[in-house]
Formats: sequence, C-alpha cells, structure tokens
Amino acid sequence: MKKYIFVFILTLFFVTSPVNAAIYKGHKVFTRVCTKCHQTGQYFIAKKTIYQWKKLMKKKGLPLSKLHLKKSKAKKSWKYFKSKKYKKKTKHLKQFLVEYAKDSGNVPACN
Ligand code: HEC
Repeated sequence: MKKYIFVFILTLFFVTSPVNAAIYKGHKVFTRVCTKCHQTGQYFIAKKTIYQWKKLMKKKGLPLSKLHLKKSKAKKSWKYFKSKKYKKKTKHLKQFLVEYAKDSGNVPACN
C-alpha cells in the first residue's frame, strides 16, 4: 500500500509541476543523447553558467546545434541536431541544463 501512495505522489508531483516535468524530460534527453559523447550529467553541465546555457539554448537550441554541426568530431550527433525531435525537446533540455548549471546551486539526484 505504501508503495502505491508513493508512486501516486510522485506522479502527481511530475504532472502538476510543469517545471519539474520539463527537467525530468530534459534529463532523459541528456542521458540518452548527450552523454554518448560528453561526460555524464553533473560534471559536464556544471562547466557552464546559467547564462552560458541560456545563450546556447536560445532560438530552439540553434547555437548548440550549430556548434556541433561545425565539428567533424561530432558527426554522429548531426542527424539528431538536425531533427525535429531535437527542436521539440530543446525547451526541456534548456530547463534541465539551467537547473544544474554551475551557479545554480543544485546537484542532480542521479546521472
Ligand atoms: C556525437 C557526439 C556528440 C553528441 C551526441 C553531443 N555532443 Fe556536444 N560536442 C561534441 C563535440 C565533438 C564537441 C566539440 C568539443 C571540442 O571542440 O573539444 C562538442 C561540444 C559541445 C559543447 C561546447 C563545449 C564547450 O566546452 O564549450 C557543448 C555545450 C555541448 N557539446 C553540449 C551538448 C549537449 C547538450 C548535447 C545533447 C543534446 C550534446 N552536446 C551532444 C560531441 C557531441
């Protein structure tokens, strides 16, 4: 019984809080896509400040995708950065990155 209540509260938490839902989705994108090439979570995200992440993620993440499209080393990510999927998720990704930026004072619970 306790377990059900816990799951219920957790679901409620994500459903009722748009910001947390976005961070959760952003986290999923990050672990699925970005960590293939970059170090996991915390360390990589904490290299940049809130301001720097916001700048990279503006205009639906255009600066970030451009940065990768210029690097031949990042070739494997080109398909993703050019896809609609990326544009659809940048809002979430941005929220996640900003939440755990260097000067945010937050540390992700998992990575
Ligand atoms: C296929 C591999 C690959 C994937 C996937 C990838 N990147 Fe990168 N990324 C690179 C490479 C290569 C560079 C250039 C590094 C360099 O020049 O030293 C880079 C550079 C960056 C930089 C600039 C680094 C700096 O120090 O200024 C950021 C920020 C970044 N990536 C974020 C992301 C995010 C966020 C994602 C997920 C949406 C992602 N990357 C997915 C390969 C990748």
